[in-house]
Order: sequence, then C-alpha cells, then structure tokens
Amino acid sequence: MQKYDVIIIGAGIAGLYAAMNIPKSKKVLVLCKDIPWECNTFYAQGGMVSALDNNDISLHVEDTLNAGAHHNLERVVQILSETSIEITADIIKKGMQFDTDSKGNLLYTKEAAHSTARIIHAGGDATGRYLHHFMMTQNPHLLEQNMLVYDLLIENGRCYGIKAMSSYNPVTIYADNVIIASGGVGSLYEYNTNSRTVSADIHGICAEKGIALKDMEFMQFHPTVFVKTPFARKLLLTEALRGEGAHIVDEDGKRFLFDYDNRGELASRDIVSRSIFEYKRKTEKEVYLDCSMFKPKVFHARFPNITHTFSSLGFNLPHDRVPISPAFHYANGGIACNSHGIVPGIEGLYVVGEAARTGVHGANRLASNSLLEGAVFAKRAVEHMLGLDSHIGKIPKFDKDYDNILHKDNDKKYKRRLRKIMWEEVGIVRTTQGLHHARNLIYDMKNHEIGRLLQLRLNTASAIVDAALARKESLGTHYIEDDDQDI
Ligand code: SIN
Repeated sequence: MQKYDVIIIGAGIAGLYAAMNIPKSKKVLVLCKDIPWECNTFYAQGGMVSALDNNDISLHVEDTLNAGAHHNLERVVQILSETSIEITADIIKKGMQFDTDSKGNLLYTKEAAHSTARIIHAGGDATGRYLHHFMMTQNPHLLEQNMLVYDLLIENGRCYGIKAMSSYNPVTIYADNVIIASGGVGSLYEYNTNSRTVSADIHGICAEKGIALKDMEFMQFHPTVFVKTPFARKLLLTEALRGEGAHIVDEDGKRFLFDYDNRGELASRDIVSRSIFEYKRKTEKEVYLDCSMFKPKVFHARFPNITHTFSSLGFNLPHDRVPISPAFHYANGGIACNSHGIVPGIEGLYVVGEAARTGVHGANRLASNSLLEGAVFAKRAVEHMLGLDSHIGKIPKFDKDYDNILHKDNDKKYKRRLRKIMWEEVGIVRTTQGLHHARNLIYDMKNHEIGRLLQLRLNTASAIVDAALARKESLGTHYIEDDDQDI
C-alpha cells in the first residue's frame, strides 16, 4: 500500500510553494499530470504583485477590491496584501532572482487597474518560467510526472487519498492530507492562454462529490492575446506592455478604448476585454496591440520572451502591430475553501492557487495577483495542516474504478463542441438564451457514451453555466447582455 503524509496535486507555484514549506521529514508526494512545466505558472509573463511597503497595503487592497467589483472577501484581500511583503522576502532569501536595477533594487512594473507600479518580474517577461524553475529546484520532496488524478478517495467527510493513472497504470495512493493545487479550467474554452493540462478535472470530481464550487460565473478573459495559431494555448501579450505604454488600436490607428472607459488601456481587464469584443462586433474592424512607441533596444531587453516568440511567427516587434483578441485566461471562482485552504466538511482536504475560491479575487482578478495568491495561501494551508497533524486511521474500501473508461471514442468530438459552446455562449458577453442553449448541450453530451475525463470537464462546465444563469445581473467578468446595463 502506498501511503504518504501529504499528496499535492499540481506542480505550479501553489503546489511547489506548499511543498517547499513542508519539512523534509514528512513523506510528501507532488503529482503533476504531464511534464512539470506544463502548468500556468510556467507561462506567466507580467509578474507577481508585492505591496511596496506597509503604506502601500491599503492601496493594493483598494485596487484589488475595485477590480473585483467589491465582490471580494475584504478580510482575505487584506491577508493577501499584508503577507505579500514577507512572502516576497522569503522567496528572494531562498535565492529567487527578480529583475533589479544596477544597484540591486527590485524593478517594479505597472499593469492595468493598479494605482502604482508594484509588480516584480524576472527574465523581463518570463517571470513564470523563472519562478517555476526556481521552485522546482527548491522542492525537497518526491515529484512524479504523468500522474493523472481521476478520483479523490472521500468517505464520511474525510479524504483518504487519490486514484490516478500513472503512465497508463491505475494506482491508488493514500495520504493523511491531500492538497489540491491543480489550477483552473482553461481547456473548457476554445480560445485560452492556459497550459494544455489545465482541464478542470479536479473541479469536476469535487462537483460529483457534492463539494461546493463557488463564484464559477466569474471567468476572466485576458484582453491581449494572439489567437491565430493552431495550438490550443493561445499567445499572451502581457498586460505589462500596456502598463509601460503600449496602445490598443483599430486598423485605422484609433485608440477606441477611451470611448468605453476614461482609463483607456489601463481600465480593469474585464472592461478592456468587453470593450474590444463589443468594438469588433460593432465595427467588424481588426484590433491590434501597438508597441511601436518603445525603442527597439529597450523593448527587446524588457520583453525578450515576447520578442522571440513573435519573431518566430514573423512579427518584427516593437515595430509591427499584433492582431489581438480577448481569450479565456483565469478562473476567479473555484473549489470553495476558507483562507487556510480548508475545504469545508472534508477533513484532510485543502485547495490552493487558481483551483481555490478563497474570495480574494471577487468578480475579476487584479492583474498579477495570481502568483501571489498561489504562494500566500499555499503557505497558510500548510501551516494549518502541520498544526493539526491529523492521520487517516482505518481506511475504507474504495472499490469503484474507472481505469479502462477514462477516454471513449467520441470524446474528442464532444470536447471540441464543449470548447466552442463555452466560448460562444459562456464567454465575455452572455445572454440568458445562450446560457440555456449551453446548458442543454452540456446535458445532452453527458448522456452520451463518454469517458470519465470528459464527464469531469462537463461537470465543471455545468457549474459555470448554472452559476451564470443564477446571477441575473452583470458584475465584473460576468456580463449579461439582456439585462439592459451599459458596458
Ligand atoms: C499578464 O502578464 O498580463 C498576465 C498577468 C496575470 O494574469 O495577472
């Protein structure tokens, strides 16, 4: 029998920082579904928020609440901001190198809806890659890749472990505590910026077991994404570009965002995405990100990742404009938990990072709060867990298995259909009729011969649609067109 003190599902910032905070003396297993760097942390560009000093905390809290349409839990936002200074210091003390000036002072950038520059970054625009690599080197515990979790072992209000497919072999692994750090729901949407591994499986398991998913109507769309590639993950152009001066223009060079909000490119992400969507629909014009105001040398040094990626696609940045579209980026909602990551009613189960709904983001996440959230709440969950030191005791039998039915023949077709309907009807602008249409299609797909993994995706998609139907008024990223509100 395989048994651990702690299983961590996911190896992005939340999973790895949780692992870094558990002493080596504990028997810990970190699982990742694919290769470790196929996670959203790896692809993060802009950076990580860190309050500049104690005086900045109230301003950071205010910016987070304003971006979140005040749907956030203020007490949790306060924790996020207050803890940011010590978390950043801890990560730096352990050896992470964020970008600094020649005197060694941290360099801060600004992104939309921040009232000041308070975002630290690494490798220019490769923050996620640097941070992920650093945390992989710091993780003192066993990490196993190609471990696809398809069930949580839950009975009588306790989690006993997981079932997973390990390189095509089903395995059952028990643990005193399971920490879910599996990320969001990107693969549900046709256009998304997420790693291909982020497909809402664990959300779907939770929904199946009656564990609450909360705020699922609040799905965030990033405004500046290059979607004209055949690959599932579309290419992000970090918000830091706009924070440092890039413009969004139509094909005639008009900065039309000021028609929608007087902050223009620096309005919050929900507003910018919706404005681009609405403008394209109204005018049928192409929309671009224009970086031509940057000096090439400065641009190449500050945004090397974007420079190289887009150069391989034939763009000469910063000279060329890049056609953009909003695309799904981040789940503000998720598996309900408290500020220690505790999943209510299930002993031994925690959730951290994008998978979690702590209430910190409200109806729309403030840019670059996500890496910070991953670290802050992972540490809090681990502190709580180590304080309890609970053990599973006698393990019930978990006979039910799905190992030969994870995939079925028709799944690909239905997955494509799901992605399309989620993008078209459960996207940036929604209508009640469209949501009902999506609900019916999802219901219909659930009644076909499908594999377990698709079933789990559909559970999560249902949760998003049901939450969107339940919220009649527009708020943050949830915008209902037929409620007669202005954009
Ligand atoms: C970006 O760099 O624009 C993304 C940052 C984030 O998701 O907050």
